[in-house]
Amino acid sequence: MAVLITGGAGYIGSHTCVELLDAGFEVVILDNFINSKPEAIERIREITGKEVKTYTADLLNMEKVNQVFEENDIESVIHFAGLKAVGESVYYPLRYYHNNITGTLVLCEVMKAHNVKRLVFSSSATVYGMPDRVPISEDFPTAALNPYGRTKLMIEEILKDLYNSDQEWSIALLRYFNPIGAHKSGLIGEDPNGIPNNLMPYITQVAIGKLRELNVFGNQYSTKDGTGVRDYIHVVDLAKGHLRALEKVSTSSGVEAYNLGTGKGYSVLEMVSAFEKASREKIPYQIVEPRPGDAAICYSNPLKAREQLGWVAEKDIDQMCEDSWRWQKSNPNGYKNMQKDNLHLLKNGDFFMKK
Ligand code: NAD
Ligand code: UD1
Repeated sequence: MAVLITGGAGYIGSHTCVELLDAGFEVVILDNFINSKPEAIERIREITGKEVKTYTADLLNMEKVNQVFEENDIESVIHFAGLKAVGESVYYPLRYYHNNITGTLVLCEVMKAHNVKRLVFSSSATVYGMPDRVPISEDFPTAALNPYGRTKLMIEEILKDLYNSDQEWSIALLRYFNPIGAHKSGLIGEDPNGIPNNLMPYITQVAIGKLRELNVFGNQYSTKDGTGVRDYIHVVDLAKGHLRALEKVSTSSGVEAYNLGTGKGYSVLEMVSAFEKASREKIPYQIVEPRPGDAAICYSNPLKAREQLGWVAEKDIDQMCEDSWRWQKSNPNGYKNMQKDNLHLLKNGDFFMKK
């Protein structure tokens, strides 16, 4: 019996694969590497000492997705595959709707055809839009501020309809807050394309000297020091949350949303100080205009995940910063493109790694 991980080569997916393999699960990855590198798979193998069957496949390709289910005994799916850049989604909404929504529809069709009805879906705190108070619980009103956020909200609705039509489905909608950090080995981590949009990868690239200084988006918010406050969560804690969610969907049916966050908020300037302490590097910054669409404060009430999944985030902000820095320092250019020599490429585009 295997767990299918769509988007398993990506930032959160790769960390989740490591936790699953360490816990003894059989894992099958499906990824088209549109925002990741095959090197990540090799690193997963290096950390865990285990092989991972990987399909180079687009979720939009129903035939290929079906083949994955034909060739493996899949019992549940963790669905990470999706495009996630907010700004890009505003310029290319159709690309986002097609990839994220149609991709999910194809996946669910194939799951249904194979009678696989256990699904853990990567949603986001973005579904809370501009929250008018904190901490945010799962029953807060939802809203989308951009096409990316709307894909998450729409997929949540689609999955609820799916459950309503057939109560054998068991679906966990995991609403992540702000994942940062990396595996303690420094072998896997976040590898953004181009200039990072998010705070932590921007800070680490300033520290390594790739970017000159951090632009702090506004210091006049009603927060402790005027800068934006967020709920940063270590990606390994987040990955472990997926194992708990998998247990949940394997033991009961239903569709439930869970916040995965720490319940604590840190400001941009607190993050700069924490990072400076962890890395012993100075982070020069300047205050610039607020970023349109940014909330002042966003942090979770993580109680439901604690009570219903038995999951709590354990790693603190210092560990998050230390691990983000170790990854950046050991991989100044992220995952380098894998040497072809290390790959057995098959005619159909699939591959496996040479030892
Ligand atoms: P990521 O881009 O690193 O990983 C996504 C993976 O999906 C990539 O490997 C990409 O190549 C793959 N992919 C995308 N479209 C595909 C398709 N059509 N077919 C096959 N593979 C495809 O992103 P991540 O940070 O690991 O995020 C994982 C999921 O969590 C995403 O759905 C994202 O929207 C969601 N999420 C992320 C964050 C965050 O801050 N990182 C926050 C909230 C929610
Ligand atoms: C962003 C996305 C959100 C997504 C989340 C996780 C936007 C508007 N929102 O949220 O949809 O779910 O990432 O991927 O893009 N900051 C700076 N300077 C920077 C970068 C960020 O000051 O260069 C500040 C931001 O204003 C914010 C905080 O740092 O206060 C965190 O920003 P970021 O990492 O982009 O996450 P979110 O804004 O929470």
